[in-house]
Amino acid sequence: MRAIPPPEIGHSCVPPLRKTGSGPSPMRRPSEIGAAVIGSGFIGTVHVEALRRLGVQVHGLLGSSPERAASRAEQLGVPRGYASLRELLDDDRVEVVHVTSPNHLHHPQVCEILAAGRHVVCEKPLALTSRESGELAALAAETGRVNAVNFNIRFYPLNQHAHELVADGMLGDVRLVTGRYFQDWLLLETDWNWRLEPDHGGALRAVGDIGSHWLDLLSFITGQPIVSVMADLATFIPTRRQPAGPVQTFSTERAAETVEREIATEDTATILLRFANGARGAVSISQLSPGRKNSLQWEIDGSSAAAFWDSEQPDQMWIGHRDRPNEILIRNPALMGPAGQAAAALPGGHVEGFADTFRALFRAIYADVGAGAPSERPGYPTFADGHDEMLVGDAVAISSRDGRWTDVERAA
Ligand SMILES: NC(=O)c1ccc[n+]([C@@H]2O[C@H](COP(=O)([O-])OP(=O)(O)OC[C@H]3O[C@@H](n4cnc5c(N)ncnc54)[C@H](O)[C@@H]3O)[C@@H](O)[C@H]2O)c1
Repeated sequence: MRAIPPPEIGHSCVPPLRKTGSGPSPMRRPSEIGAAVIGSGFIGTVHVEALRRLGVQVHGLLGSSPERAASRAEQLGVPRGYASLRELLDDDRVEVVHVTSPNHLHHPQVCEILAAGRHVVCEKPLALTSRESGELAALAAETGRVNAVNFNIRFYPLNQHAHELVADGMLGDVRLVTGRYFQDWLLLETDWNWRLEPDHGGALRAVGDIGSHWLDLLSFITGQPIVSVMADLATFIPTRRQPAGPVQTFSTERAAETVEREIATEDTATILLRFANGARGAVSISQLSPGRKNSLQWEIDGSSAAAFWDSEQPDQMWIGHRDRPNEILIRNPALMGPAGQAAAALPGGHVEGFADTFRALFRAIYADVGAGAPSERPGYPTFADGHDEMLVGDAVAISSRDGRWTDVERAA
């Protein structure tokens, strides 16, 4: 086990901007809007399926090669694969591009998409470095295009409801915010994925890949930015065996031929947090917790009540009281506030899960696409939120390297 210094990585890209019209557009429905998806691996597939549920026209896919794009398009029933990003952007029917490629491609691809005047939905983390994510946030603001980061976990209906509970003061003052995000798919030294390589995944791995969701989510639910962190990152598997061929995300297959690789990114993180209102927090993040497939948990202790939620039981939220019996709220549009209701597609008792959050998030994003521009206060995570999470990540890396509390450096 050893501490991780952050490697020097990232790109710079300042593309020429193609200015687009800024006049008011008539409101259009998702079924009148065309999209394309970059990447058709684990999560690109979920994007395609969620877009279909909304009626958005998915005109094509871009993959790692023209052949892969064509074969994945065929498998997913999408009309075509594009041979290049240029070819995708030359398709005038495509108004929104979903970026679900590995992290190092987000910045160059999003630069080009925004320069071509398209709206963008980008997977998390927004970029490899905060310099890149800052550039993307500035570029998105300059172009006036709809820009969203796929922090889909916000869009479990009970997380939307929890945000409203806190905003309405139902928990009192937020004091303590705790939780974890545990997975086990990188438990063994033979487990491999592009996320393990800093130049593909970023200098932070467990924190960037899954911790980013938790940090974004708890800032969203509490309405409180994280202002300072004390982090301890650890790499328990300093050498892994990379299969000679390609590997699918979440794959547990063992390759016969492997190459030894040094690992420079963290398997686990334990982070103490301070929030803007003075609340304190603690989160543990791990990609090697045996048996935990995808367990994000949070608890918020307020001055009058508490709430707890677990992504592996997403249709229920525990609400804790001191002077009366505790409650379990089963997700039910009839029992949630307007934001929770808007994110729910099914009546109570008909369990909604991971894929449904994409439908709910895209529904909010495409309302703005239909209007032609971001609303004044978008109800979904934007590039500004994606950049903010990267700044929190910077503080985590510095804190772990230096062994001290570190403030999140936001521009004044
Ligand atoms: N929101 C979530 O819950 C969630 C979950 C998983 C992954 N993600 C994010 O989605 C992204 C992809 O992750 P994944 O798990 O789907 O990875 P993956 O490896 O399963 O898929 C990546 C895809 O990108 C394609 N690709 C590679 N190079 C490309 C290029 N030059 N141009 C176009 N496509 C290219 C690959 O062929 C593959 O289809 C990452 O940024 C990851 O952090 C988000």
